[in-house]
Amino acid sequence: MKALVFHGPGESAWEDVADPGLQDATDAIVRVDTTTICGTDLHILKGDVPEVPPGTVLGHEAVGEVVEIGSDVRTVRPGDRVLVSCITACGRCRFCRDGAYGQCLGGGGWILGHLINGAQAEYVRVPHADLSVHLLPGAVDSKDAVLLADIFPTAYEVGVLNGCVRPGDTVAVVGAGPIGLAAIVAAQLYSPERIIAVDLAPTRLDAAKRLGADAVVDAMEEPELLVADLTEGLGADVVVEAVGVPESFEACLRMVRPGGRVANVGVHGKPVTLHLEELWIKNVTITTGLVDTYSTPILLRMMAAGRLPGSSLVTHIFQLEQMEEAYDVFSRAADTGAIKVVLGGQPHDVVSVRAA
Ligand SMILES: NC(=O)c1ccc[n+]([C@@H]2O[C@H](COP(=O)([O-])OP(=O)(O)OC[C@H]3O[C@@H](n4cnc5c(N)ncnc54)[C@H](O)[C@@H]3O)[C@@H](O)[C@H]2O)c1
Ligand SMILES: [Zn+2]
Ligand SMILES: [Zn+2]
Repeated sequence: MKALVFHGPGESAWEDVADPGLQDATDAIVRVDTTTICGTDLHILKGDVPEVPPGTVLGHEAVGEVVEIGSDVRTVRPGDRVLVSCITACGRCRFCRDGAYGQCLGGGGWILGHLINGAQAEYVRVPHADLSVHLLPGAVDSKDAVLLADIFPTAYEVGVLNGCVRPGDTVAVVGAGPIGLAAIVAAQLYSPERIIAVDLAPTRLDAAKRLGADAVVDAMEEPELLVADLTEGLGADVVVEAVGVPESFEACLRMVRPGGRVANVGVHGKPVTLHLEELWIKNVTITTGLVDTYSTPILLRMMAAGRLPGSSLVTHIFQLEQMEEAYDVFSRAADTGAIKVVLGGQPHDVVSVRAA
């Protein structure tokens, strides 16, 4: 088969590799119809994730058809159309039993395209298939569904739910990349009074407006002043950090009201100063988190019911074999306007539809 293989920092190629086969009785092999590229894949290519061994197939998001299952797989069978989640879960360890699948101790967590071969390929082996793939209802298009593999559960769980967004809140979202934009969409499920988006890129701020932000502001123009203006000087009830650099995290803490919440989603590669000399008196709650994907089934039901717009985040569609071109477009997002770049995604090649 063909796959996008990582060959060390700055090096990758869409090339021939051996087809994956079943290794454990709990594995499934999925033929990939649709996949996408995550900012994390770019981090891997930059060399920021050194535990990824050269030779690894990248990618942790896919929709496809189950073609083979191990003898212990119970919830899916060949012919089923499934979503492959970015998080794999054994379902038995202490963390899985809490729904904290991201922390799985039984060989799961974020492993696809990280510790084992991933989904930017014609076929992918998914360990612990019973809890790591989701049967797709026929009503959900593959290009929408693939956004439920990572960005929507991440934005919803680590941003909106950890931030405890409530009706009437002022929500500031710092960083309007795919994750921040998905947080803007998901926050609207809770009827906030207003959503304020902060970014450096005008294209991203335009996308934020299109997806429902009420106000947008350039990160270089003291966004905390606009937030204060709109909230009678108090600050935002909830601030979602969706960038992952010290400046953006510190900006979040200047925007939050006393008693408010800062939900950190961004992956930080550098230490950040926590200004407790200012914060100790503000009763602020800060949360951190890796996505668990416990919310994927409910997000899927909402998408099937038309309550969660997915493809409004998709700006570019390629065929699988255009992987290298897709990477080029995605990695130059400021020039190309790319938000989510989807590969494959033939509309509705439904193989079988049955109740979950
Ligand atoms: N916690 C998790 O489980 C999890 C899962 C997936 C991704 N992430 C992380 O979430 C973050 C966002 O992901 P993404 O794919 O949207 O990334 P992205 O790089 O596409 O988007 C980040 C956005 O932040 C903007 N930005 C840069 N510096 C800024 C600043 N100082 N102030 C405001 N905006 C600024 C950029 O212009 C860009 O639009 C990344 O750090 C990613 O690694 C976390
Ligand atoms: Zn990802
Ligand atoms: Zn587990």
